[in-house]
Amino acid sequence: MTKDYYALETEILGVNMKEPILQVRGISKIFPGVKALDNVSLDLFEGEVVCIVGENGAGKSTLIKCLSGVHIPTQGDIFLDGKLVNFKNPSDAIKAGISVVYQEHKLFSNLTVSENIFFGRFPMLKGNFIDYKKLNKDTEKILADLGMTISPKDIVSTLNTSKSQMVEIAKAYSRGARIMILDEPSASITQSELLKLFEIINNLKLKGRSFIYISHRLKELYEVGDRVYVFKDGVNVGSDSIANIETKQIIKMMVGRDIGKSFKPKDRPIGKEIMRVENMSNNVVTDCNFVVREGEIVGFAGLVGSGRSELAESIFGYRRKTSGKVFIDGIEVQISKPKDAIRYGLGFVTEDRKTTGLILNKSVGSNITYPILDKISKFGWLNFGKENVLINESIEKLRIKTPSSKQEAGNLSGGNQQKIILSKWLLTNSKILICDEPTKGIDVGTKQEFYTILDELTRMGKAVILISSELPEVIGLSNRVYVMRFGKIVTELQEQELTEEKIAEYSMKD
Ligand SMILES: Nc1ncnc2c1ncn2[C@@H]1O[C@H](COP(=O)(O)OP(=O)(O)OP(=O)(O)O)[C@@H](O)[C@H]1O
Ligand SMILES: [Mg+2]
Repeated sequence: MTKDYYALETEILGVNMKEPILQVRGISKIFPGVKALDNVSLDLFEGEVVCIVGENGAGKSTLIKCLSGVHIPTQGDIFLDGKLVNFKNPSDAIKAGISVVYQEHKLFSNLTVSENIFFGRFPMLKGNFIDYKKLNKDTEKILADLGMTISPKDIVSTLNTSKSQMVEIAKAYSRGARIMILDEPSASITQSELLKLFEIINNLKLKGRSFIYISHRLKELYEVGDRVYVFKDGVNVGSDSIANIETKQIIKMMVGRDIGKSFKPKDRPIGKEIMRVENMSNNVVTDCNFVVREGEIVGFAGLVGSGRSELAESIFGYRRKTSGKVFIDGIEVQISKPKDAIRYGLGFVTEDRKTTGLILNKSVGSNITYPILDKISKFGWLNFGKENVLINESIEKLRIKTPSSKQEAGNLSGGNQQKIILSKWLLTNSKILICDEPTKGIDVGTKQEFYTILDELTRMGKAVILISSELPEVIGLSNRVYVMRFGKIVTELQEQELTEEKIAEYSMKD
């Protein structure tokens, strides 16, 4: 049956290709109330990078989980080299040569790079001792093979996201993975690290390894991909070779409509100073000074690790400051915990949805209204009617994809979890909203809706502090941008000075 399907496809494409190493045929996956995948088929050839794109909740990660033995499909077949496989658990998939490079890294942080790469497969000496010399030497060879500049003896906890991602790839490679799956690998790494990743992928392609690459940044498809599959609501709505398809067409397939211009003109009226931060220092940032005015979107740019989040955390009371003053409407305020910050009209859309943003085992609804419970309660009694209205409005406004507001937040797709965080802070009606990588993992359509919301908020006289590594977003939205480097604010750029080159130049200047 697989041969027929393949033959048909070959005929349609008109080229005589080899048999795909991976064939997914008619996979469906049903969760209570959700058909996450609906009759999805996909091919992957040797030495190929296949990209999967689609809106938040389209089913991308679910497919990956079916391919890697995390989920068992409700229906459908997976063939490797033409042979039917049935993965009962992740180690079955690993043994068959499929490895996932997760975004939330699954390495042992207290072990070295080489211990992680060879975990469970250590070379041994007599007397049951690990042969560290060989271990490090073998690791060195693998890292050199892949063109990675990491030391085998480094402890993993000292590596940044990009380097740990590379260790994961090296580990998969050393285990003989022929298919490596990257689910939003670019979300937390810098542009130059991403280019390095592409280099490694290309290098591995030449060695006959294949990749499935998921990203919301469509530009990347053109830099790394060979073919693309577009998912919508669990259905594969199209596939093509990247060279044949334009971004516009991909977006239309994903979203089901044309999306217009992303950014509104910045003709918002700017009012008086609403916030001033003086000499803020903590264990990461030194002596930061800046102001925010009513109606402004103030961008914070800089490389990952430059201290932008840490600065915001100290302002909001998440991180202890060692010095510094915060003034709101000209009056100095003492903020030592987030509750104080909220009282003074601050909101914080955090970057890390797993630790500070969401309560995963609570419902979507209670996560949304959590920070405003006191506002919708009277004498300790919660007004359920009002709560429901707010929850439903929020779900609709940001198009949160969930079977109901009662669903556990942890069951939503990554991007939809991020939307919950956005909604909850939008409801707090904060005067000053700090957004830390707010659109990380969010699809193009929703990004645009979020940009419109920020524009509306600032037109009402509120202010936004926008920390973002997506330069087009920072430039498209901000009235002014502070650039940070090594924990310091190195420059302030005005609207007319905002270009990607200029920001990059200051981000990297010594
Ligand atoms: N364990 C689960 N229980 C219930 N529903 C789930 C579970 N996992 C995923 N879903 C649902 O399946 C659908 C597809 O989710 P999936 O995570 O595959 O989306 P995605 O395409 O990866 O989205 P994103 O871009 O946001 O990461 C979503 O509606 C999600 O809520
Ligand atoms: Mg996902």
